[in-house]
Amino acid sequence: MSKKDLIICRCEEVTEEEIKKAIREGADNVDAVKRATRAGMGLCQSHTCYTLIVKIIHEMTGKPIKEILPATHRSPIRPITAEILAKSKNM
Ligand code: FES
Repeated sequence: MSKKDLIICRCEEVTEEEIKKAIREGADNVDAVKRATRAGMGLCQSHTCYTLIVKIIHEMTGKPIKEILPATHRSPIRPITAEILAKSKNM
């Protein structure tokens, strides 16, 4: 396995090279990398790959880590019953 094949986002199987390609093409924050590669859109919602993506952006662009914009996190969507939904209306 070469370094090009190194998986950074395990959920979406996005390699380091795919992320670096997106950065070379202008993605300079986590959300832009996410849109270009799907890295961070998997089941863990980037809890595993987020810091690795930030590190790669930092190494390639020289941007301070504090300036690399955080990705927006969304809660995982799970099916719920209508009963739970009805009860939440009274909350
Ligand atoms: S490892 Fe990237 S979304 Fe889970």
